[in-house]
Amino acid sequence: MANRIVVPEAKGPATALLYNDWYPAMRSEGLQGKQLVKQTIMGIPLILGRRADGRVFAMRDACPHRGIPLSCGWFDGEAVTCKYHGWVFEPVSGQCMEIPSLTSRDTFPRNLHGTAYPCEERDGYAWVYFPEPGSGRARPEDAALAPVPEVPKFGERYRSAHLTAELPCNVDHGIIGLMDPAHGPFVHQSWWWRSRKSIHEKEKHFEPIPQGFRMTAHAPSGNSAPYKLLGVYGEPVTTTIDFVLPNRRFETIRCGNKWFASLTTVTPTQPNACRIDVAAAWNVFYQVPLVLPIAKFFGRRFVEQDQVTMIQQAEGLKYDPTLMLIDDADRPAKWYFALKQARLEAAKTGEAARHPMDGPVTLRWRS
Ligand code: FES
Ligand SMILES: [Fe+2]
Repeated sequence: MANRIVVPEAKGPATALLYNDWYPAMRSEGLQGKQLVKQTIMGIPLILGRRADGRVFAMRDACPHRGIPLSCGWFDGEAVTCKYHGWVFEPVSGQCMEIPSLTSRDTFPRNLHGTAYPCEERDGYAWVYFPEPGSGRARPEDAALAPVPEVPKFGERYRSAHLTAELPCNVDHGIIGLMDPAHGPFVHQSWWWRSRKSIHEKEKHFEPIPQGFRMTAHAPSGNSAPYKLLGVYGEPVTTTIDFVLPNRRFETIRCGNKWFASLTTVTPTQPNACRIDVAAAWNVFYQVPLVLPIAKFFGRRFVEQDQVTMIQQAEGLKYDPTLMLIDDADRPAKWYFALKQARLEAAKTGEAARHPMDGPVTLRWRS
């Protein structure tokens, strides 16, 4: 999406990051030919590219020799060459292949690597696996332990779309903004969706799932546009929303054999900035023309409303005010912080993370 909204430089407080997991670095369609694309994710400068055989890769944008960005060098479709002394790296493994200054008397150093991160393509994104800092080179076998996240799909034929927006706040604010039910009637009011007056009491059921929590399948609120649209099929509509660490919200709406699913992630870029990405897939209205542009238009409006609000919030967060979370509307945010804390501690102690919920919970709020 061409961002018409100017996102100010983020100044608020930073936060702890969760490692040993996958984050979407960028849209993979942007990786083509002999280009190296620079991206900062998790505060780490990266170069991403695509080898001639189609494989995507991500390396730290720094030569292991003397630190010049590898993005200053060259990529020929096979290997990345450093601009300074011409060391050559295979970019998927990071292995150094050549050191031009070595003579026939030298033995080539074995196991010399630039920092390469496991990188996989899913749903049109290049996902990058970040190991715990200081734990050494990311090992593909570790990355294989955590599956690359994917938009759920319930059939072969579907359409898809994506949206992105930069947010000038740390990843925690991005994530709790994502799961916050109480801002809807204020931030997302519009004639086509809902007004402030439509606010009413709600009751939702949650249950713990590994690394997160689920809002269990329920008949969705009747006043939201996608649900109204789905209702035309005349079958009961159910929706399930999962939040899973480190940063993922999966929403699945099903109506008979029709479905709409999305994966929304909030990815730390700089220490106090993040980016929201929404990837969606659906088979509803498969044959109807114009649904894609209309859905994209409403989706973009929706994300922009959140984005503008968070830009305004960042203004207040600059000065690191004390904040509060209230029951029940902010309970999902509390669970998020508890889940994150448990995982950070588990990473230190090596023990399994304790889940903050011990069973199903019903929450009530007005929105
Ligand atoms: S700094 Fe890259 S080869 Fe020397
Ligand atoms: Fe929102």
